[in-house]
Amino acid sequence: MGKDVIVACDFPSAEATFAFLDRFTDKKLFVKIGMELFYAEGPAIVHEIKRRGHKIFLDLKLHDIPNTVKKAMAVLSGLDVDICNLHAGGSCRMMEAALEGLTRPDGTRPLLIAVTQLTSTDQETMTRDLLIERPIDEVVLHYAKNAKAAGLDGVVCSPLEAGKVHDTCGSSFLAVTPGVRFADGDVGDQKRVMTPAEAKKVGSDYIVVGRPITAAADPVAAYERCVREFVD
Ligand code: C5P
Repeated sequence: MGKDVIVACDFPSAEATFAFLDRFTDKKLFVKIGMELFYAEGPAIVHEIKRRGHKIFLDLKLHDIPNTVKKAMAVLSGLDVDICNLHAGGSCRMMEAALEGLTRPDGTRPLLIAVTQLTSTDQETMTRDLLIERPIDEVVLHYAKNAKAAGLDGVVCSPLEAGKVHDTCGSSFLAVTPGVRFADGDVGDQKRVMTPAEAKKVGSDYIVVGRPITAAADPVAAYERCVREFVD
């Protein structure tokens, strides 16, 4: 899979999701389904979006004991999504177990990427709440290296970290980056943002874009602008 724009469908229901997707008529998107939508609608929402021909990043961020994650990943593998994820903080053993669970008997599997530190976690939170004293950049890169060593395909990170992740883990290790805003757009609650064109320059492999598309007056035009800036 090449560079692509992943649309974060952060909607509360199937109805709202399909009202949004219907605007794109026959365009095939790469869609991110997160916890809110998946917990509200269950596997049926995955089947229906897939049936419509869209690709799916199922963003459930698993984090549990290795055996539980392995079995849960085997279930997600049966949903035939394109990308799954987990927390690198769950340990190398958990990531290896996840990969085993995700791999189908014929050897195929969805891509598996890891969240390093959430972008809502800053240095102070990490030190105070998690008792992790090391600089956050070092922690993010260490977790990325763990993910790579465990056999994963990449990490979710800020576009500001994409270059370092590639330098450390290789250019084929995926940097999937949220925190994208148009130059003339609303930043909202995202703190460290880049435009789609800047994310392309720093080497992001996929950008995850929610509100700049979903809340736009013309979502199709906003999506096409993202593709023009990031992919073309
Ligand atoms: O609306 P917005 O473009 O900010 O959406 C970004 C999406 O990426 C949301 O679904 C958000 O939960 C997700 N995300 C993020 N930062 C992370 C991991 C995921 O913004 N570190």
